[in-house]
Amino acid sequence: MSNKPALEHVAIIMDGNGRWAKKRNLPRTAGHRQGIKATQAIIEACVQHEIKYLTLFAFSSENWNRPKSEISVLMDLFVESLQSEVDTLNEKGVCLRFLGHRPAFSNGLCKHVQQAEELTRTNSELVLSIAMGYGGRWDILQAVEHIVADVLDKRLAAEDIDEVLLENRLVTAGIPAPDLFIRTGGEKRISNFLLWQLAYTELYFSDVLWPDFNPQELEKAFENYRVRQRRFGLIQEQLV
Ligand code: FPP
Repeated sequence: MSNKPALEHVAIIMDGNGRWAKKRNLPRTAGHRQGIKATQAIIEACVQHEIKYLTLFAFSSENWNRPKSEISVLMDLFVESLQSEVDTLNEKGVCLRFLGHRPAFSNGLCKHVQQAEELTRTNSELVLSIAMGYGGRWDILQAVEHIVADVLDKRLAAEDIDEVLLENRLVTAGIPAPDLFIRTGGEKRISNFLLWQLAYTELYFSDVLWPDFNPQELEKAFENYRVRQRRFGLIQEQLV
């Protein structure tokens, strides 16, 4: 039996699009366009590697504070990518999920998101979750709000609240915690991504800017992960 840690769920902060463009004297939005190409290749590589869950941080709750012009191009790119990619992803057996606070998104984008989720709902090769308008603190807060409402309405007893119950109210309900977290672009931060879910995730940071992050770089992250020992708070002797 292999003693390599299982790799089922990979979560990625795709950072560095802006710097990639700046280095080439291009507008930041050119970096985002190139970032989408990198995203397509990484999704394909994850399918090939039989990864079961891939979660991508596409737009954080804090990204709403970026210049309006950049937000507008990003939103157009999301709609464009959804329109052009959804059928291919569906054929590959990818199930699409969108995680985040939706009311701030345009009706058009919300409609595409909903249609993509409905079309791919029963697929099971890879669950691809796109975090958009997502923040880890928001996620925990919305879970607590739902729990409090249930307690007040007497659908739930306060003494029944435990970690499993809270986990099931997060927007990632039904998705196991990430095994491997990757952040590209050189920064070593979690930036309000999956705060609860990353508690025992292995962290990997790459200096490569997202548009240059390719399947070979992904393989390096996987190699690095495979030699880790995951102890989940136990001591080595308890792991056998
Ligand atoms: C980070 O680069 C990237 C983003 C803000 C998100 C945009 C991601 C993409 C366009 C990739 C495609 C994703 C999907 C799901 C279609 P940055 O602008 O923060 O870069 P910087 O740190 O160099 O400024």
